[in-house]
Amino acid sequence: LTALTATAALAEYPEKPITIVVPFAAGGPTDKVARDFAEGLRKQLGKPIIIENAGGAGGTLGATKVAKAANDGYTILLTHIGMATSPALYRNLQYKTLEDFEYLGLINEVPMTLVGRSTLAANNYAELNTWIQANKGKINLAHAGVGSASHLCGLLFQSTLKVEMVAVPYKGTGPAMTDLLGGQVDIMCDQTTNTMGQAEGGKIKFYAVSTAKRLSMPALAKLPTLDESGLKGFNVTIWHGLYAPKGTPKPVVDKLNAALKATLKDPAFIKSEEALAAVVVTDNRVNGAEHKKFVEAEINKWTPVIRANVQYAD
Ligand code: MLT
Repeated sequence: LTALTATAALAEYPEKPITIVVPFAAGGPTDKVARDFAEGLRKQLGKPIIIENAGGAGGTLGATKVAKAANDGYTILLTHIGMATSPALYRNLQYKTLEDFEYLGLINEVPMTLVGRSTLAANNYAELNTWIQANKGKINLAHAGVGSASHLCGLLFQSTLKVEMVAVPYKGTGPAMTDLLGGQVDIMCDQTTNTMGQAEGGKIKFYAVSTAKRLSMPALAKLPTLDESGLKGFNVTIWHGLYAPKGTPKPVVDKLNAALKATLKDPAFIKSEEALAAVVVTDNRVNGAEHKKFVEAEINKWTPVIRANVQYAD
């Protein structure tokens, strides 16, 4: 009877609201992607989707929460490249990235922008670089915690420039942006899903993009890449994926994956992403198996880079 009841329950999944854990503060880029994505998921699954912001330790506290959650499909994780950088930064990570999650598909890829407070004298990357070289050790670089996307980009920026900066960590680049707007910090490398909102306002300055090629968005097209600005080979794109705790029943995993794929084809979601220069995934990484293979490849790509540039966070 138990098996029958369990099968019936799976057939009815979801019977109640689903919680998406976002491992960063509300108002930041991960939260923005999650809320737009959740609206698509709600339409597909017909139940409310609750966003729970669980920030801290570069996103690893939230990921741990989901790794240890009930594997019933009602607590899932939406996070980014931190899934691939954290193993190189945290010796005591409370989960095994490739073993403790069901991979539900890759969602998008997001460029980063190097931005600064509006009171900086520099009006382009060359002038910013001159200012950086003249202020070694005194520049405040904001990020969302060791293991975050902004931390990774900031790390590579400093090591490529061979300049040490004062790192100012936040629980997300939402709160970091507040301080940048207030002039409390100097620069930040942040995803366009967060900085695009400031592109027209003139309240922060834009210096460059982190991608190999310039962005086609009119508001960002004039920005040089860091590569063409002298940081040869600089190329950082942030990606977001969806995860459930290991052992979540296959019918539930399949329903969540199908809902992810349908959401990535939802014009409303695609529009919200395009408006922020984010690109929705259309290749086979929307499948769990390829999503997992991609994360494994990213772990292998970023681990040596990180190990060569920074000591462990714990
Ligand atoms: C990051 O830097 O990892 C993200 O921007 C954090 C966030 O979503 O707030």
